[in-house]
Amino acid sequence: MAKAKIIFACQNCGYQSPKWLGKCPDCNQWNTLVEERVERAAHPRGDLTVGSKEDPSPITEISTAEEGRILSGIGEFDRVLGGGLVPGSVILIGGDPGIGKSTLLLQAFSALSQRGLTCLYISGEESQRQIKMRAERLGVQSSKLLILSETSLERIIEQVKKIKPSVVVIDSIQTLFTSSLPSAPGSIGQVRESSGSIIVLAKKSGLSTFLIGHVTKDGSLAGPRVLEHMVDTVLYFEGERGHNFRILRAVKNRFGSTNEIGVFEMKEAGLQEVTNPSELFLSERPLQVPGSVVVCSMEGTRPILVELQALVSPSFLAVPRRTTIGVDYNRVALLVAVLEKKMSVNLFNQDIFVNVAGGVHVDEPAVDLGIVAAVASSYQEKPIDPQTVLLGEVGLAGEIRGIAQAEARLKEAGKLGFKRCILPLSNSRQLGHVKSPELAGVSSLEECWQILF
Ligand code: TYD
Ligand code: MG
Repeated sequence: MAKAKIIFACQNCGYQSPKWLGKCPDCNQWNTLVEERVERAAHPRGDLTVGSKEDPSPITEISTAEEGRILSGIGEFDRVLGGGLVPGSVILIGGDPGIGKSTLLLQAFSALSQRGLTCLYISGEESQRQIKMRAERLGVQSSKLLILSETSLERIIEQVKKIKPSVVVIDSIQTLFTSSLPSAPGSIGQVRESSGSIIVLAKKSGLSTFLIGHVTKDGSLAGPRVLEHMVDTVLYFEGERGHNFRILRAVKNRFGSTNEIGVFEMKEAGLQEVTNPSELFLSERPLQVPGSVVVCSMEGTRPILVELQALVSPSFLAVPRRTTIGVDYNRVALLVAVLEKKMSVNLFNQDIFVNVAGGVHVDEPAVDLGIVAAVASSYQEKPIDPQTVLLGEVGLAGEIRGIAQAEARLKEAGKLGFKRCILPLSNSRQLGHVKSPELAGVSSLEECWQILF
């Protein structure tokens, strides 16, 4: 007979302890350990194990023919998945409540079902009628898109086995509930067990599965950090509250590049793809204003032009403020130190704010030169030519180092009509054939300053 055992599980990271602790030793969160009863597995997940009882085969003889990708037709969505959906893959999508996860998947499922696939949308949060109302707003019309309002894992598995859909979404994993565990829905034990069973089912039957997960206040996927290892792809759907655009970002992808992003805009009739994000991010740029520069950041395979803004103003604090949004704080501190030392600028009594317009995050050394130039431009109250794009990594000695994929970035800048690009000398030597924009190769901050100010 199954024997019940009491354990204490951290609701943040899934750490388990035989006795109660005030602070989780794994993730250092306070008061996250909650008592849970686990039934000793008298009947381990019998038929639900990954793989079949095959013997090992030579790698050259394993067929990958069935791995053909399924395209939804929503370009931004397909690209983030690595060029379409891989059959049998499990994708976890996290995001703040209300950001548009349910909307995105309903639209994607609508597109997939119009291509003839049977899609099953399982919601534990909304009733069938509520989903229908949303679908009407989005103009979803497809008899191949099935809606199920259900939270019980056992009944979900039963339905999936009966209907045999090609893709399924669970909205959200925090509402899943298995009766084999006595703990409440949403607790870490329930989330792990239920999602685990779904993942195993997906792998076994070649069913592509999306799992929607809520995000905690500190931005990590609530509870199922353990899940991140079990799924193939982890996507985050992000966006600023006040802004209409949303970014779908891959943080783990077994079938494609990570850091790939898809940009959408939330409209009256749902999410719309933004095929040229650079245009969007630069649309409200003030021209001839000190502290504003344009840089080009590679997001996965795609170059995106964004506006970096810096504001430098005299500080009245003992320790001046350094605030960064969208760029790494320590990177900015380092670059400010290089600027002070190499260009003899005194910033110790200045507050410095650096922001990436539009709520985008850039974390690439190629935007270093842009950050330094924006800070210097704001401090000196001298605007930088709005037709210029800056590229380059800045070293501690004030040298400008070469960057990767310079040509792709130049192409994007040329496409949007930028006239000039300041870039590392090593890159400009290799790109002599590029006519537009005009190239200005620099090897040190001094050379760059001669051009800019
Ligand atoms: P939703 O998909 O329910 O978010 P999540 O599942 O991540 O919690 O999105 C809800 C928000 O999207 C809500 O604030 C309204 C907005 N929205 C639109 O602006 N246009 C639309 O067509 C739809 C369906 C939603
Ligand atoms: Mg939702």
